[in-house]
Amino acid sequence: MDVKSLILAAGKGTRMKSKLPKVLHKVNGISMIEKILKTLKNVGTKEDILILGHKKELILERLEDQAYVEQKKQLGTGHAVIQAKEKLKDFDGEVLILCGDTPLLKEESLEKLIDKHRKEDVSLTMLTADMENPFGYGRIVKSNNGNVESIVEEKEASEEIKKIKEINTGVYCCNSKKLFSALEKVGNENNKGEYYLTDIIGILNSRGEEIKTLKLEDNEEILGVNNRIHLSIASSVLNRRKNREVMENGVTLIDPENTYIEENVKIGQDTIIYPGAVIQGNTKIGKSCNIMGNTRIFNSKIQDNVNIESSVIEEANIRNNANIGPFAHLRPKANIGENVKVGNFVEVKKSTLKKGVKAGHLSYIGDSEIGEDTNIGAGTITCNYDGKNKFKTIIGKKAFIGSNTKFVAPVKIGDSVTTGAGSVITKDVPSDSLGIARARQRNIENWKKNK
Ligand code: UD1
Ligand code: CA
Repeated sequence: MDVKSLILAAGKGTRMKSKLPKVLHKVNGISMIEKILKTLKNVGTKEDILILGHKKELILERLEDQAYVEQKKQLGTGHAVIQAKEKLKDFDGEVLILCGDTPLLKEESLEKLIDKHRKEDVSLTMLTADMENPFGYGRIVKSNNGNVESIVEEKEASEEIKKIKEINTGVYCCNSKKLFSALEKVGNENNKGEYYLTDIIGILNSRGEEIKTLKLEDNEEILGVNNRIHLSIASSVLNRRKNREVMENGVTLIDPENTYIEENVKIGQDTIIYPGAVIQGNTKIGKSCNIMGNTRIFNSKIQDNVNIESSVIEEANIRNNANIGPFAHLRPKANIGENVKVGNFVEVKKSTLKKGVKAGHLSYIGDSEIGEDTNIGAGTITCNYDGKNKFKTIIGKKAFIGSNTKFVAPVKIGDSVTTGAGSVITKDVPSDSLGIARARQRNIENWKKNK
């Protein structure tokens, strides 16, 4: 039988105090909603249907081809789920219900929930937890045979019921047909005036259906994010889990507490990461690299044996054995070849530095192609922008670019060219030539004395 999921995400999330809908806030580099969808993908659900309301456009903009239904007014969790009735009318499998603001749920827990539900062949199985302080949660009322009789919300709970420590996490696995049939009967005559999804438990129970629970071992998983404090807690939990995952895969983290590796990052064996690293987005780092000193890397591909120190790397490609930094800035479309050295205070943007290029100090290289084994002297700058358009600088292989050369693009430099230090190169230089463009030095003798 197939499982489809329903994710409740119509709420406003007022306490986030944000212009973004709550589920778009990020935890360890991934929005809460994307994290949950990723977890469900690993569980293998057949379809994941979002229940959206507040700012639904913003959410859909981020998710391609996402199935969803709209809940125009937020009249309660039961009202939210019933919006999916039409969409699931021909579906006879199981429905997994969860909330868009619980990003810490693990796939193993959801898998266990589904397994137990199937093994016991009941109509509904809910994920519960024992809480030291159950305030605010729906309490689980069970009969002697372990069947759940009802869920009582905080606002309706008597003193006796309030003492129950087993709470509803808001995650359920249920038979689709039975779910929607019970939902038909849910009203809103309660202290909140809402249609409670939890009322289906009592309804199913009165129909003689079996309802079972699976108790979570680790309550951390059901943390619901309602404000920025919760968001930071969820984020650091995911950060810790990610750090553990990479260490288990053979990566050394010198100080995991101070290392930030986002959800979708991949890192190869024997890479060593020093404190202060922030590794973001879809970055992929190869084997045996050293990432040192407060480096930030975003959406970049880095091969093996690369050293990076105290640098900012954004949407760049770096090949084997390259050395970057300290204090280099690789910007989008920086293509750094094998054995390349990009040193102190060098900025590279939309440029290819082929194998063995050295740009050790104080340079700006933009919209350029630089051939193999060329040496770029300190202070070299490609003047790629005339205030209106961008132009290319093409330099051949084995060139020796003198310090403080300026290339006024568009300009093409051949192989094995040397440029004189301080030259402003405005014209092409053919291979094997010296390009020099600077005023000759004149010494005025005894100048000081005559003054
Ligand atoms: C709900 C449960 C409670 C459980 C708790 C776990 C009900 C009635 N109660 O309570 O038993 O212990 O979750 O966290 O279900 N939402 C919508 N549309 C709505 C209302 C809510 O999409 O009309 C979404 C919210 O955005 C939120 C989620 O559903 O993500 C939960 O709703 P909320 O009102 O916070 O339910 P709780 O009172 O926490
Ligand atoms: Ca809640």
